[in-house]
Amino acid sequence: MTEKDFILESYPLTLSSGQYCWSSPSNIALVKYWGKKEEQIPENPSVSFTLDACKTTTKLSFNKKGGLDNSYSFSVTFEGAEQDNFKPKIQTFFERVESYLPFLKAYHFEIETSNTFPHSSGIASSASGMSALALCLMSLEKELNPEMSSEYFRRKSSFLARLGSGSASRSIEGELVVWGAHKEIPESSNLYGTKYPFEVHNNFKDFHDTILLVDKGEKQVSSTVGHKLMFEHPFADERFKQGHKNLSKLIKIFKNGDLPSFIKIVESEALTLHAMMMTSHPYFILMKPNTLKIINKIWEFREETGLYICFTLDAGANVHLLYPENQAVQIYEFIKNELVAYCQNGHYICDRIGFGAKQLPI
Ligand code: PMV
Repeated sequence: MTEKDFILESYPLTLSSGQYCWSSPSNIALVKYWGKKEEQIPENPSVSFTLDACKTTTKLSFNKKGGLDNSYSFSVTFEGAEQDNFKPKIQTFFERVESYLPFLKAYHFEIETSNTFPHSSGIASSASGMSALALCLMSLEKELNPEMSSEYFRRKSSFLARLGSGSASRSIEGELVVWGAHKEIPESSNLYGTKYPFEVHNNFKDFHDTILLVDKGEKQVSSTVGHKLMFEHPFADERFKQGHKNLSKLIKIFKNGDLPSFIKIVESEALTLHAMMMTSHPYFILMKPNTLKIINKIWEFREETGLYICFTLDAGANVHLLYPENQAVQIYEFIKNELVAYCQNGHYICDRIGFGAKQLPI
């Protein structure tokens, strides 16, 4: 599908008001997206586990406006309180998606949103937040055009979410989602995320992700700035090629369940992401001393026990611990006894692979 396929010529129905509510999860990338072209087109394909517990719930209420008001009209509340500081992001999102949702200026929207995870946890809410809002808007478009297929609905939701935040394109479906064209994955696209289409070994079913909250503060460098620093980055071309190769390797690993090889790729991807940050101009470091302490503890524990725990990192200091369901009891003991001490205020979040966004009754 191309961009043009996401523009509907006209709508058979009209609607004066209504409400929709969606709950949409966060996701954790195994092969990372870092570096983009214009219009949120990724420089390399990425693949992620959809999460289950870390979610945003968004209720969108809308009323048709009277008169010829030619601007976006919306209010936003976060966990019950007005949030004017969310408005510029939503304004930019509306500007980017308007040509695909021509009804945007015809309504006043009330956006009520909340997260299951604490706001200041260092967990980015852009993936879950932007996907939940995109899904609410797609529910409205579907009501204006009830013939829309569920596949079109999912793809366009992911397409719109991508225009809000790249990684949000991977939050619509579960359990493994690919975003970015890859030669071995039919249907993979730079425009939207698609469900991973091949066989996945039972070792990856019910995989756990325990998120250790090392630093709950605001990051010093945003993802937007970080992505831009991949322009003219000395190692960018090699990194983008590596992303493609690592995804090819993961296709085999997902099939044969080879956990040692899985660990090598996932940890290397995490450290490469941070290596890109440390070697850009200007350079920056988002890891904290406790991030490194945790990584070393994991390596020691793995060496001693042979258990398949590994880590990955987002653009921040928090550590995502990934491990299989059948080793969860022993690994959880290790987390509680050895790792929680490195978390800010002892805080961590137990999550696992999830099945994607859900519409909630109003
Ligand atoms: O979606 P953005 O623009 O916030 O970028 C997210 C990038 C990483 O989380 C670091 C990697 C990824 O693929 O999710």
